[in-house]
Amino acid sequence: MENNTTVAEKTAPERKKRIFSAIQPSGQMTLGNYLGAIRNWVTLQDEFDCIYATANLHAITVRQDPKKLKENTTNLFALLIAAGVDPEKCIFFHQSQVSAHAELSWVLSTYTQFGELSRMTQFKDKSAKHADNINAGLFTYPALMAADILLYQADMVPVGADQKQHLELTRNVAERFNGIYGNTFVVPEPYITKTAARVMSLLDPSKKMSKSDPNTKSFILMVDEPATIMKKFRSAVTDSEASVRYAEGKDGINNLMEIYAACTGKTFEQIEDEFRGKGYGDFKTAVGEAVVAQLEPIQIRYKELIKDRKYLDELSRKGAENAARIAKRTIDKVYKKVGLVR
Ligand code: TYM
Repeated sequence: MENNTTVAEKTAPERKKRIFSAIQPSGQMTLGNYLGAIRNWVTLQDEFDCIYATANLHAITVRQDPKKLKENTTNLFALLIAAGVDPEKCIFFHQSQVSAHAELSWVLSTYTQFGELSRMTQFKDKSAKHADNINAGLFTYPALMAADILLYQADMVPVGADQKQHLELTRNVAERFNGIYGNTFVVPEPYITKTAARVMSLLDPSKKMSKSDPNTKSFILMVDEPATIMKKFRSAVTDSEASVRYAEGKDGINNLMEIYAACTGKTFEQIEDEFRGKGYGDFKTAVGEAVVAQLEPIQIRYKELIKDRKYLDELSRKGAENAARIAKRTIDKVYKKVGLVR
């Protein structure tokens, strides 16, 4: 990992590296969200200065029911705490609680080119999916994401592989702004793990696992009952070779091996040894059990936490206060550089 700390940021030489990441509260979380992002949020907490948020401003780029959005936002907050995000160790809040996100997003959108935004895969996918509502926010979405990250001078951003393009855009915008006004933003690096950075659909392993897939058997939800999880893995698409090995053209098995490796810490070689001479049935059962072992304790804690919404609101308010203090330093600096009256 490169050190991208700018001169402006080197006032505290002992400064721990800063992490920022966020997740949209758009319904239920999948195993993809968990293995691709959430799990890494948790492990990074002990070593780094971590700031995490629910990205509820991003969520309204597709039409939301207001009551459901609010409920989903708190549910996600609780689920992430249940998964190990610890508000004592990191700053954890809702994006809408810190107005500097929207302020910086506007400024950065004027340093982001139409052509750049037009190339974003997520925009192309989402505008195809929501053809009746291709709003300006859906298009400028990456400028808000850049604002989230740059506001906190984050060094690293733990995300799944699908967000890499947005991270590259963020880096370009930061470098462009720094080039015009002098060092203002730390240029962030993506933090993407080798295994399970892109968990694929269980039914069509050429597609990313996504909760918006109309067939619920294609994805595992973090709150799926253990029996449901086992059933979904049993119906996962494989191939006709009946050999558990990681190889080109074996997308279904490769995906299951990635999931199993991520849940057990085993290497692909160890997994191949374990299932040599055994059928796919045994393998699928083992993968299901490994996933249940990860998710079941989270589900138990989640059910407890969600009972006390007031406590969760209080936690997010405290997190937002701390986040706003850090964000203010950046937004003040940016407004001054750009020549905006404060
Ligand atoms: P979102 O809410 O779609 O997804 C949250 C995180 O989960 C990862 N992810 C996956 N990883 C592996 N396999 C999958 N099938 C899979 N599906 C989702 C995503 O890569 C992501 O890390 N724009 C972001 C949210 C955001 C953000 C930010 C992220 C807003 N501001 C600032 C980082 C920094 C998004 O839509 O993620």
